[in-house]
Amino acid sequence: MTIAIASDHGGFALKTYLINYFANQGVRLDDLGTHSEESCDYPLIADKLCRHVLEKKSEFGILICGTGIGISIAANRHKGIRAALLYDNDVAHLACEHNNANVVVFGGRTQKPEDVIQYLQTFMNASFEGGRHQRRIDELDTIGE
Ligand code: RB5
Repeated sequence: MTIAIASDHGGFALKTYLINYFANQGVRLDDLGTHSEESCDYPLIADKLCRHVLEKKSEFGILICGTGIGISIAANRHKGIRAALLYDNDVAHLACEHNNANVVVFGGRTQKPEDVIQYLQTFMNASFEGGRHQRRIDELDTIGE
């Protein structure tokens, strides 16, 4: 499974933590930046990762900014991207089962790394339920035009 990850400076420390954690589990995260604590703009980071996911270079993506809010807004501007901010275990499996999220989002300044690991594992072990949820996902691409 190919998983891409990207953050702004507010998520850089958490991104580094996740890359190292998953490397120890034998899972490589494809790091799309940023590569330091130097200030950068989360919309451009979100755009880079979302294009990567939409071009099917990764099965899903992980985005991190300070709160997870700005980078969620940016990601969800992309048609075909369903970015979900995971903040508890139920949300983590429902984001897959109901929303078929292809980007998961965290707040580097608001969430504990060990919680984030748990939410990621829950998300990755879940399966999309389809049915009425597929219909609603299809509707996402037809609204707001
Ligand atoms: C950057 O300081 C911060 O605004 C950003 O990481 C994010 O929290 C925005 O929503």
